Amino acid sequence: PVPVVAIDGPSASGKGTVAARVAEALGYHCLDSGSLYRLVALAAMRAGVSFDDEPGLARLAATLPARFAEGRVFLGEEDVTDAIRTEEASVGASKVAVLAEVRAALLDRQREYRHAPGLVAEGRDMGSVVFPDAGTKIFLTATAQARATRRYKQLIEKGMAANMKSLLKDLQDRDARDAARPVAPLQKLPDAALLDTTEMDVEQAVGFVLDRVRS
Ligand code: CDP
Repeated sequence: PVPVVAIDGPSASGKGTVAARVAEALGYHCLDSGSLYRLVALAAMRAGVSFDDEPGLARLAATLPARFAEGRVFLGEEDVTDAIRTEEASVGASKVAVLAEVRAALLDRQREYRHAPGLVAEGRDMGSVVFPDAGTKIFLTATAQARATRRYKQLIEKGMAANMKSLLKDLQDRDARDAARPVAPLQKLPDAALLDTTEMDVEQAVGFVLDRVRS
């Protein structure tokens, strides 16, 4: 079967950056599964489907005209790369992600990204649910303090307002919701290697993953 590197972990852990770099180094495809949940939320807002209409959301998820090209995300013909990152879409994504029918509707779609020569898939349940037979499974994390500090720096660099205390609180709330939900809760399973990047830079984290893939 086509090899899969599954990278799971909490919000703002840097798994998106690490996954993209690992995919580039290996010449593999990359799946950012969180963007699919974000797309479902955005499509629902646009279509006036409520975040508690589970069958309606599952229908949207099953027929989502999602496309990824050159680092951009498209919904049909429209470039929604920025639109799926707004606070509203982020909150919506975390609401639709708790619904079992939505997750089921996205399952086959995610598995379709597995083509030769290989796939790096990142999210919350890549190693546990979507690609349980992945040859490499990584649980990438960092302390909430370290993750909040990284996000703070990103916002400041972009010239945006940032408040450390509220960023930290927001991350801790998100962690609690991710871990407590009944479907696909975020957890480190015994078969995943723990990669704690609290004291690491991106280069070191990428090196750790590549070593696991090649060993
Ligand atoms: O990491 P962050 O929360 O900033 O965003 P994301 O990775 O883009 O995920 C967006 C939302 O989708 C979050 O609420 C995740 O809990 C959820 N998600 C999920 O349930 N399963 C995945 N495989 C990926 C994301």
